[in-house]
Amino acid sequence: MQAISVGLLGLGTVGSGVVRIIENHQDKLMHQIGCPVKVKKILVQDIEKERSVKVDPSLLTMDPADIIENPEIEVVIEVMGGIENTREYMLQALRNKKNVVTANKDLMAVHGSELLTAASENGCDLFYEASVAGGIPILRSLVDGLASDRITKMMGIVNGTTNYILTKMSLEGLPYDSVLKEAQELGYAEANPAADVEGLDAARKMAILGTLGFSMKIDLDDVKVKGITEVTEEDLQYARQLGYTMKLLGIAVREGDKVEICVEPSLLPSSHPLASVNNEYNAVYVYGEAVGETMFYGPGAGSLPTATAVVSDLVGVIKNMRLGVNGHSMVTPQYEKQLMDDGEMSSK
Ligand code: NAP
Ligand code: HSE
Repeated sequence: MQAISVGLLGLGTVGSGVVRIIENHQDKLMHQIGCPVKVKKILVQDIEKERSVKVDPSLLTMDPADIIENPEIEVVIEVMGGIENTREYMLQALRNKKNVVTANKDLMAVHGSELLTAASENGCDLFYEASVAGGIPILRSLVDGLASDRITKMMGIVNGTTNYILTKMSLEGLPYDSVLKEAQELGYAEANPAADVEGLDAARKMAILGTLGFSMKIDLDDVKVKGITEVTEEDLQYARQLGYTMKLLGIAVREGDKVEICVEPSLLPSSHPLASVNNEYNAVYVYGEAVGETMFYGPGAGSLPTATAVVSDLVGVIKNMRLGVNGHSMVTPQYEKQLMDDGEMSSK
C-alpha cells in the first residue's frame, strides 16, 4: 500500500524523537494504519548543523514552502516552536488541506481557536496531544475518556523543567543555575527557559486543560501565574524539615460558570502523591462529578516521551484520513456550538 508522506517542521529534541519512532516502530504503525509512513521533508534553521539523529541530508530544507506547498505531503508535523511564523505556516498548511499535528502549547494556548477553526473549515485534523504533559495522553483522556462527565477540578505538575529543578535542589541540594543548565541539556526546557521558570509554560498548559476539561474558552490572561525564580534552596530545605515538599502546581477549579486557574509554587505534605512526582515527570489529578478522582502520571518532557504523543496523533490523523472523517479536530463542544452558530461549521 502507498506510504503516507509527512513533512516535519523542526528536527530538534522532539523532531528527532519523531524521526526515531517513525523509523523504529514501522511494524506497529503498519499494524495500526495499514501502510508505511515516510518522512518526505524536514524544515530546519541550519542545514549544516550536526544532529543527534541520522537523516538523509536531501530531506533537510530551510524553505517552509518545500513542506507546506508540497502536494505530496499529506500531514505536517509542527515541532519547531515559536508563535507568529509558526502560526502562518500552520494556517497555510491547513488552507492547503494538510492535516497538522503540533506539540506547540505557546501557539495553541493563544491561537488555538483560530487554528482549530481553520482546520475545521478546510476539513482537516489538527491534533495537539503533545502540547500538554509530554507523553501523558491527558487531552485525549479529557475529550474522549471523560467525555460523559462534568469536570470540576484539575490540579497537577505540568512543567517538567521546573519539577526537575525543584527535585534536584530539594533532594540533592544542587544550585538552581546548574540544574537549570542540566534541564536545558536534557532537552526539557523551552528555547527560552524563562517560559518554564516564570510559570508561563505551565499557564499555557493549564489554559489548554481548562478549555478542554471545562468545555469553555479559557484565555491565557485568565491564568494567575507565579514561577519558581524566587524559590531558594533554604525554602526547600525548611519545607522538607517540616514535612512538606514544594511543587509548581497548576490548579483549575470550576464552580458553576466561574473558573479560577492559577500556577504557583505550593507546599504539599510530603505524603501527598504529587510530592513524590520527581524530575521531569508530570502528574495531573482530574476530578469529575461522576467518576470522582483520577490521576494521570508520566514523563512530561523529553524527546521520545513527547514524540510518542506526536506520532500517536499522527496515527489518529491517518486513521481519520482512511475513514474519510477528517475535520473532527480536538474541539470542545463549546467551540463547535459557537462555530455552528456563526455558520462556520456544519455538524457532520
Ligand atoms: P528544539 O530542540 O529547539 O528544536 C526546534 C527545531 O526547530 C530545530 O530543529 C530548529 O532548527 C527548528 N526551527 C526552529 N525555528 C525555526 C525556524 N524559524 N525555521 C526553521 N526551523 C526552525 O525544540 P524542541 O524542544 O524540540 O521543541 C519543539 C516544540 O515542541 C516546541 O513548541 C516545544 O514547546 C514543544 N515541546 C517540547 C517538549 C520537550 O520536551 N522538548 C515537550 C513538549 C512540547 P535547527 O535544528 O536547525 O536549529
Ligand atoms: N519545557 C516543557 C517542560 C517541555 O519542561 O515541561 C514540555 O512541554
